[in-house]
Amino acid sequence: MKLHNAGTPALNTQMGPDLKFKIAEAYKTARTNLYFSLVKEGCKKIVFTSSLSGEGKSTTAVNVAITLAQEVSTKVLLIDCDLRKPKVNCFFNMTASPGLTNFLGGMKNIDDVVRETDSPNLRVITGGVVVPNPSELLSSAKMGAVVKQMENKFDYIIFDTPPVNVVVDALTLAGIADGFVIVVKEGFSLQPELRRTIMTLEHAKVKILGVILNGAKLETKGDYGYRYEHNE
Ligand SMILES: Nc1ncnc2c1ncn2[C@@H]1O[C@H](COP(=O)(O)OP(=O)(O)OP(=O)(O)O)[C@@H](O)[C@H]1O
Ligand SMILES: [Mg+2]
Repeated sequence: MKLHNAGTPALNTQMGPDLKFKIAEAYKTARTNLYFSLVKEGCKKIVFTSSLSGEGKSTTAVNVAITLAQEVSTKVLLIDCDLRKPKVNCFFNMTASPGLTNFLGGMKNIDDVVRETDSPNLRVITGGVVVPNPSELLSSAKMGAVVKQMENKFDYIIFDTPPVNVVVDALTLAGIADGFVIVVKEGFSLQPELRRTIMTLEHAKVKILGVILNGAKLETKGDYGYRYEHNE
């Protein structure tokens, strides 16, 4: 399965093989660092978030999920928890609905919303229909229960979420997830905003697994387009 960039398809067609290789390698580095950041038995549940909109949360969450699922016998479930602007579906050429809100709202069964992808190890729950109460749905007992149920079937559950400094939705997953990864975009993310995000996450007592630097300039840095900094 190819690595994806849904928002800017031109990027993919214009990329040379060397750049594609480097990006794939960078996601593999992120995968390796995640292995070491979260050492525990059973399913690992990881939230991808950032300070503000457009820093690359969805792009990174999707590509890390794809890269994790490339490992033999590693079953991965990617859940779009950005219920305000569901976008994960775009990366897989799917519609957002039926998805998480349809299930949490009682309109669909779980089997109807866990959807297959081109990768045999990767399943996706898209966002679903847009609803007026996303944070309530995400913090509902039904959400906790379905994640518990999915833990028995998957090695990783990856949650794509909205930005922490804008809405509380990502924080509602604090009690469910094992850790949070913060996505930072080079030349875009602001230090005070990042500091605020870290403070908010620390206040919520979540484990911050690390920061992924998205969009690093290959020419100037002389290495990967994506980097992972461990936070301990
Ligand atoms: N490394 C990158 N290089 C170039 N474009 C990128 C990169 N990462 C993300 N983008 C583009 O930036 C835009 C925003 O990315 P993405 O949707 O992943 O961000 P997001 O943080 O999930 O945004 P939102 O908060 O709105 O959900 C998209 O058009 C995406 O294709
Ligand atoms: Mg997003």
